[in-house]
Amino acid sequence: MPEDEKVMALALDIIKKGGLVAIPTETVYGLAGNALDPLSSGKIYAAKGRPSDNPLIVHIADTGDLPVIAADIPKEAYALADAFWPGPLTMILHKTDAVPKETTGGLDTVAVRMPSDNIASEFIRICGPFIAAPSANASGRPSCTTAEHVYEDLKGKIELIIDGGPVGIGLESTIVDLTEDIPCLLRPGYIDPEKIKQVTGRLNIDPTVLGAASKDLRPKAPGMKYRHYAPKGDMVIVSGDRDKVISYINSKCEEAGRQGINTAVLCISEDKPFYKSSFICDIGSADDGDLIAHNLFSALREFDERGAKLIFSETFDIPGIGMAVMNRLLKAAGHKIINV
Ligand code: TXA
Ligand code: MG
Repeated sequence: MPEDEKVMALALDIIKKGGLVAIPTETVYGLAGNALDPLSSGKIYAAKGRPSDNPLIVHIADTGDLPVIAADIPKEAYALADAFWPGPLTMILHKTDAVPKETTGGLDTVAVRMPSDNIASEFIRICGPFIAAPSANASGRPSCTTAEHVYEDLKGKIELIIDGGPVGIGLESTIVDLTEDIPCLLRPGYIDPEKIKQVTGRLNIDPTVLGAASKDLRPKAPGMKYRHYAPKGDMVIVSGDRDKVISYINSKCEEAGRQGINTAVLCISEDKPFYKSSFICDIGSADDGDLIAHNLFSALREFDERGAKLIFSETFDIPGIGMAVMNRLLKAAGHKIINV
């Protein structure tokens, strides 16, 4: 039997027994289990250390399977599926009784996505057809863009990691809620609001996408209210004119350096030569938003590896995927922004 088939046979055996397998997808690695088995969903929460009110996304490989898990499916959902599935789009729909509440964190709605990654789709066809898969990171940490990240976070807690190499996109899927009259963006991703609007005609944006959540302003995606992506060091985003941002960050790094504090800077490649800090992480050229998105989570992990205690980030004002990058960055920094 070829190696790939052996791996899938092993994965099937694990999933059938209610176990967990980490899989690559085009967005980030996912931690997969049988979405229709409440015990398997319970194991996913336990392995990640994730609060059980934070629902899981159900992954499918065929739009024909949608009515098994979703009810009252609006025509916009089929239009979005036609336009973006398989791909990095998750839709929130009313759930059917087939989906246990353990998978949806107690909600009457279900998140559904059809990944385009070849390994993910083969895995869903063989081990599914309904696969629950949150991002395969330990709760609170940046999502995993390589199998090594998954191993770092979940070793000893799950049965198998399928290594498909580094993922393509590097940020989690765009989430659109289709359970209200007007579709609503709950989490920005590679498919940006303009592209969604071209299909649905209208789109609300959850105010917590770029603003801080508060007692009165709760994000509609339960997961977006939790502390997320944050490196161990203190992270601050600095915004303003380019020259002012660079000189502000340099003066703060110099001050911290005098006190023996390890600093780090997150910036575009064009600005790297101008910074003075113990560690300078350039995540791509300002002209290459996709590369910036791709590198963000591994950069956040690297700050921990290098023991950075104080991290300054530029703002990434890029079209399209910029909203998704800033959404993750703001969460990582606990919404600490300084305007200079
Ligand atoms: O790209 C992705 O979406 C990746 C890959 C593995 O597919 N998965 C992922 O899953 O990011 P996770 O669990 O890390 O994030 C899912 C988000 C959470 O914020 C969760 O609260 C929200 O989706 N969500 C899930 N079901 C929901 C529902 N019924 N209503 C509102 N939000 C929901
Ligand atoms: Mg996640």
